[in-house]
Amino acid sequence: MRKKIVAGNWKMNKTLQEGIELVKEINTALEADKPACDVVVCTPFIHLASVTPLVNPSLIGIGAENCADKESGAYTGEVSAAMVASTGAKYCILGHSERRAYYHETNEILKEKVLLALANGLTPIFCVGEVKDERVAGIQNQVVESQLEGALFNLSAEDFGKIVIAYEPVWAIGTGLTATSEQAEEMHAFIRSKVEAKYGKAVAEDCSILYGGSCKPSNAKELFANPDVDGGLIGGASLKAADFKGIIDAWKK
Ligand code: PGA
Repeated sequence: MRKKIVAGNWKMNKTLQEGIELVKEINTALEADKPACDVVVCTPFIHLASVTPLVNPSLIGIGAENCADKESGAYTGEVSAAMVASTGAKYCILGHSERRAYYHETNEILKEKVLLALANGLTPIFCVGEVKDERVAGIQNQVVESQLEGALFNLSAEDFGKIVIAYEPVWAIGTGLTATSEQAEEMHAFIRSKVEAKYGKAVAEDCSILYGGSCKPSNAKELFANPDVDGGLIGGASLKAADFKGIIDAWKK
């Protein structure tokens, strides 16, 4: 069954103490008013071990924002998928456009990260999306297709079935510019068609495809109403419990 998911991406925000407070606030709000979707909170590595015991695991899954492309060893400053999993985290964002742009993560590197995340029982939330110039040039579909082919389509159907995809048009991230509901649906349907061509209808129908990029309480309902939009990956609006809850509530009738 295709899952409805709202996932937060804190990026490089919140000290440990602030993160603990925020996660407690989100947990309390969801205990009081149960969500109608899966909720994921992705935090900086150093928060993971402290926040996982603070959430009700039937309501919130904790995730990392990245992991290393190597299993273990002399890679100073890196954090492995096994280390992430050992904190109790269940998810791992991979291929975020900020990682691709600022840390030069290529499809080859991401392919390794996806395999290591899966091998350690983590659910990758794999980000794809075009930059503004690519959208203006009308080549957004080719860009997204090559990201899927470059880092995911090597997987077996069974492993692919464990992946969550997040479509994040880079021009919409943190800019206040949201893709229109039509632009989001068009790309999500395109992604699902590519998944179907590669893995068949059943796998494509089961695949959760999230939208990311300036998603907020005021536009979440309209975005999520699209047949191929299965939720959101939320940056800025995940840093305030009330805003994040507002987006989660978009799944309620
Ligand atoms: P935003 O970020 O919601 O702040 O636009 C989304 C993301 O980068 O995941």
